[in-house]
Amino acid sequence: MPLPTIEWIGDAGGHARIIEQTLLPRELKYLDLATIEEVWDAIKRLAIRGAPAIGVAAAFGIVLGLKTSRAADASRFDADVLRAADYLASSRPTAVNLFWALERMKRRAAAVRELPLSQAREALLDEARTILAEDRRICRALGEVGAPLVPEGGSVLTHCNAGGLATADYGTALAVLFRARELGRNFRVFVDETRPLLQGARLTAWELLQAGIPATLICDSAAGMVMRDRGVRAVFVGADRIACNGDTANKIGTYSVSVLAKAHGIPFYVVAPASTFDLSLADGSSIPIEERDPSEVTAGFGARTAPEGIDVFNPAFDVTPRAHIAAIVTEKGLIERPDAARIASVLGK
Ligand code: MRU
Repeated sequence: MPLPTIEWIGDAGGHARIIEQTLLPRELKYLDLATIEEVWDAIKRLAIRGAPAIGVAAAFGIVLGLKTSRAADASRFDADVLRAADYLASSRPTAVNLFWALERMKRRAAAVRELPLSQAREALLDEARTILAEDRRICRALGEVGAPLVPEGGSVLTHCNAGGLATADYGTALAVLFRARELGRNFRVFVDETRPLLQGARLTAWELLQAGIPATLICDSAAGMVMRDRGVRAVFVGADRIACNGDTANKIGTYSVSVLAKAHGIPFYVVAPASTFDLSLADGSSIPIEERDPSEVTAGFGARTAPEGIDVFNPAFDVTPRAHIAAIVTEKGLIERPDAARIASVLGK
C-alpha cells in the first residue's frame, strides 16, 4: 500500500495530513494542516500539488474553514461556505480539479444547510472523504485503461509528476506505468527533470525507484535527442485542465514535449480523470495559466543562478493542442484523436 499523499485524521474537528512534497526526496515528512489558511498555503507553495490532490486538499480545506464558524442559521452558513470556497479558489488558478471539488462541496453544503452546524460539518467531511476515496478508485481505473498502451520492451517518456503524490494515490500517467509493470510488461521510463521546480527529478524519479521500474532521469532539453536516439515509443503525461475540444493544460514544457513527439512520430498520451475536463471552455486559449515567482527560475532551491535584475517569465503551465494528442486515457475509457464529440461521448455529457 503506497503512503497516503493526503488523509484526514479524526472527526470533523480533526485535521488534514499531507506529505510535505517540497522536502522530497531528501526527507519524507508529514505535515498536519489544522486551519484553512494552512491548506491555502500548502497548495500555494506546492507542499501538496498535482491536480487531483489539490482537489482533495481543497475539499478538506472547506471542512477546516467551517471549524471556526458560529453560523446560527442557514444563510450565515451559506456565507461561511462561500467565503471559504472563494478563499481556497484563490490559491492556484490552473488545475480545474480545485474548482470542481469546491463546487461539489458547495452543492453538499447547500443540501445540509438546515442541519445543526455540527451535523453539517460531519456531512461535509463525509463528502471530502468520498472525493478522496473516489480518486483512489479512479486512479486504479486509469491504470487499467492505459496499461495496454505501454510498449513491451520499449521506452516511454514522462514530464512532471503525475504519480501517487499528485493524487490520492497511484497517480494518473504513472498509474498507467505502475499497472503495466504489475501486468509484467518490461519497459524503461525517461523522466524529464521538469524545470524549474523539478517535480520529475524530485518526485517522479522517487516514485519510479520505489516501484522498481527502470527509470532514467534527463534534463528537459535532452528529450528530443532521447526520443530520436534512445527508442522512445510513447509519451505519457497528466493534465491540469482539458478544454471541450481536447486542448490540454499541463506542466510547463509539456507542449514542447508534444511538439517533439509529433516530429518523431511518437504517440503522445494524456491521462486524466473526468474531473480534469472543463467543458465550459471551447478550447485551450481560455485556460488560465498560473505565473509563479521569478525566484523559482533565478534562485531555484536557494542557489542564485541568474543575475539580480534580469527580467523573468515563469509560466507554470502550457497548453498542448489536441492535434498533438494521440489519445486521452480516462476512467471511462480511451478517447482517441480527441475532439469535442468524442470527449462528450466517452464522458457521457
Ligand atoms: O505545479 P504542479 O506540480 O501542481 O503541476 C502538476 C502537473 O502539471 C501534473 O502533471 C498534473 O497536475 C497532473 S497530476 C496527476
